[in-house]
Amino acid sequence: MTAQLNARGDVAVLVPAAGAGVRLGPGGPKALRLLAGEPLLVHAVRRVAAAPSVRMIVVAAPAADVEAVSELLTPITPVSVVAGGAERQESVGRALAVVPADVPIVLVHDAARALTPPDLIESVASAVRAGRPAVIPTLPVVDTIKEASPEGLVLGTVDRSVLRSVQTPQGFQHQVLAAAHAAASDPLTDDAGLAEKAGIPVTCVLGSELALKITRPLDLVIAEALLAHGPF
Ligand code: C5P
Repeated sequence: MTAQLNARGDVAVLVPAAGAGVRLGPGGPKALRLLAGEPLLVHAVRRVAAAPSVRMIVVAAPAADVEAVSELLTPITPVSVVAGGAERQESVGRALAVVPADVPIVLVHDAARALTPPDLIESVASAVRAGRPAVIPTLPVVDTIKEASPEGLVLGTVDRSVLRSVQTPQGFQHQVLAAAHAAASDPLTDDAGLAEKAGIPVTCVLGSELALKITRPLDLVIAEALLAHGPF
């Protein structure tokens, strides 16, 4: 049984949330770390549920926390919760497996991007709806980027005008994501990478600074400040 949010919606959102969050320091699975008194996952799922196109949400939780995550999210919105895997890609694959075939659009969204605005979810979904097989939100790179040797010797300066920093949600036609996952061999850090390997064109749409990935301790401070003073 999969929990349904909005029967008229045409989008399933997969939320891989089974990572350990080692870079955030000690303190349990990252998705369950508190931001302004609530787990990151709650912030993320609340914003996903506010996007009108979303029919269903599938969360991949740490295997030991499936029941707790289900109880945590049920008061907020209907969700299906599955046990995640050892790699992010496996967690996404397990969540994808419970999406019914009649849902045409699937988005994959990291729980760590807890403050992603519902508008960004809609903008990615609408580009897929318009016929793009794979869509990613991106931002221009602001730093100068150097290529360096392992010893720290600069080998060259990369032309940053052609570079993009990639966020989630990443959106796909359902069958495109399913085929890309079925064909996957080595684990990648994002789903668009799988589509690229399968020769699928991937389109960029403008991302949002609010969709920052909460990875290191400073990111939590920035996210708390955004919640306190930002456009929420
Ligand atoms: O490790 P990274 O920051 O790239 O993880 C991105 C997202 O993937 C996080 O939301 C994390 O919880 C999730 N993840 C997962 N299963 C894993 C590893 C990461 O669902 N085995």
